[in-house]
Amino acid sequence: MVLLPQIEALLAGETDMIAAMANVAAALKQTFGFFWVGFYRVKGDLLVLAPFQGPVACSRIKYGKGVCGTAWKDGQTVIVPNVEEFPGHIACNAASKSEIVVPLIRDNNVIAVLDIDSDSLNSFNEVDALYLERICRLINVGD
Ligand code: SME
Repeated sequence: MVLLPQIEALLAGETDMIAAMANVAAALKQTFGFFWVGFYRVKGDLLVLAPFQGPVACSRIKYGKGVCGTAWKDGQTVIVPNVEEFPGHIACNAASKSEIVVPLIRDNNVIAVLDIDSDSLNSFNEVDALYLERICRLINVGD
């Protein structure tokens, strides 16, 4: 992913996680044209919508629910080649066909997730997961 050095430069010295999330969402959306790119932060027993790029989305997701809640519960990246085949998928927008959700982990706790939706099937693989996990480690700064 040729974008990684640019994101490293973009985030160099950034100490505010929301600012980092906002620029990463914009960079991923602009570069790859994904349908929706954004973050949810853990607040109590919910994921709450954070910086994103794309159409309006669900603002709260429960622990263990949908792809995002599953990535939070399992503490692992979830790749969904076809959202219609993921039990409990939360359809914020009918145009979404495949999805990847990457957790941001601090001190063994998930503090947020990165969610990317594509309007094509099978858009994400294990290589994407590795790079997105690296990007998520760069974002994991500040309060
Ligand atoms: N599809 C997600 C919900 C968030 S939206 O895609 C932006 C899920 O199942 O968790």
